[in-house]
Amino acid sequence: MKLKPATALTLAAAACVVSCSIVAPIDRLHPKGSQAFLKDYDRQWLEVLKLKTLFSWLQDNSIETFKEMRAHRPTITTAPVPTKAGLKFTSTVLVANRKDVVEVLDNWDTFSVRLYGSKMDDCMGAFMLGRDHTRYNLVEKPYMRHLMSPADFPRIRSQVVSLAHKAIAEGTQTTTDKSGKAIGRIEIVNKVARRVPILLTGTYGGFPGPDEASMFRWSRATQADFFKNIKAEPPIHADAIRAGHEMTAYIGGLIQEKRVLLTKNPGAEDTILARMLKEGTNKVQGITDDRMIILTAGLLIGAGETTQAAVCKCLAELFTRPTELQGAIKAARENNDDLLGRYVWEALRFRPGNSVLPRYAEQDYVLAKGTPRETKIAKGSLVLAGTQSAMFDETFVKNPEEFRLDRPQSMYMILGYGWHRCLGDHISLIQVPQIIKALLLKKNLRPAPGKDGEINQKGGPFPEQYILEYDLD
Ligand code: HEM
Repeated sequence: MKLKPATALTLAAAACVVSCSIVAPIDRLHPKGSQAFLKDYDRQWLEVLKLKTLFSWLQDNSIETFKEMRAHRPTITTAPVPTKAGLKFTSTVLVANRKDVVEVLDNWDTFSVRLYGSKMDDCMGAFMLGRDHTRYNLVEKPYMRHLMSPADFPRIRSQVVSLAHKAIAEGTQTTTDKSGKAIGRIEIVNKVARRVPILLTGTYGGFPGPDEASMFRWSRATQADFFKNIKAEPPIHADAIRAGHEMTAYIGGLIQEKRVLLTKNPGAEDTILARMLKEGTNKVQGITDDRMIILTAGLLIGAGETTQAAVCKCLAELFTRPTELQGAIKAARENNDDLLGRYVWEALRFRPGNSVLPRYAEQDYVLAKGTPRETKIAKGSLVLAGTQSAMFDETFVKNPEEFRLDRPQSMYMILGYGWHRCLGDHISLIQVPQIIKALLLKKNLRPAPGKDGEINQKGGPFPEQYILEYDLD
């Protein structure tokens, strides 16, 4: 088809504007002027570029993105994320106002976790985080909470403390700094932050795995697919399925082995898996061996990457705040776990592992009905509930841009909110600060010089390398 000159000109001009907006990026980390995000977003001519711009801003400067949204455009609806398989979306909706975030996360019948379920089902079968208001949520989650008793908290703490110190000792290399002084150098993602929750899954959960390498691979592959593979890239999903099948076979064998052991000697082990076996769950709760396998696997799937991202991001945030860093070190040295915890969760408010939680709109819906924020959401939309934004919402959170130690734990949404609030929340409230504490107790802990001392995701969804140094006594 031959284009009329005027049409050709219009298209050329549009292409120029589009490409100009690509070649002249705004410094998202240090934006100048007011409404930098919204200006950048609005200048994109194509919806697909708006979507890309939205995700880039969320990744690079979620605090600024959400701040502008809360003030000027609390809900943004744009192009759907294109998917390669499974669910197809009709649009992408980002929600910033705290009340609206809560409305999304409370309304499980409209905003479902189908996105997770669509991945998890192929991998291991139905699981609480892939279902809403079913027996997996209403029976199995409370059952797991009953097994993970508050009476265990001191034991969890002491296991984490010893695992963390051991991991730091084993992961540290002795080297010299520029002046020739001997120092400790440690890559914390793999040597500590991933390793401790994986080892705790063994000592407390009763799921040690055949070896650490398999546990690292299973944990990463499943989490990369369930939580980060929104586009449903087939190779990422295939890795998760393989991990799921391997885990199923391994835990199935482990159950047989432990059943024999615990029948002979019920006192031989007291882990989450051992408790399930000893309670004879088949009769008590209808929790068959198949369900036990998935529930045990969930202890790893929930724990590994979330914990490591939290440890790395919290430390990275503290390193940008000398006063708070000194306060956290003092709290660690004085064994003031309550105060240290406050530093940790507040630092994570500024730099959480995830700034949003995804939901799938099962039907058309009007969000924030009757308010100036009222927004129609179409069935099939990918709805991103801005949990980080909710933690900065000035109508709910006092002086949100201040780093404060007096915020109630209930305000934070780092461990989720509502029906799907993290099953490992109490473990994490102990584990994350205790890993950080073990590191902060090292003399003059600091990021390694240069790029090594920055979190490196190596192009993937999780921290993969982060090198710290400390003085040797
Ligand atoms: C710092 C560490 C952790 C963070 C930041 C974290 C975060 C979260 C979040 C945000 C959710 C809700 C997801 C949603 O609503 O879309 C969640 C759910 C869940 N987490 Fe965690 N988590 C952590 C550690 C753990 C640990 C240690 C376990 C192991 C016990 C675990 C197991 C789970 C499970 C099973 C769910 C699903 C709960 C449900 O669907 O009702 N998590 N987690």
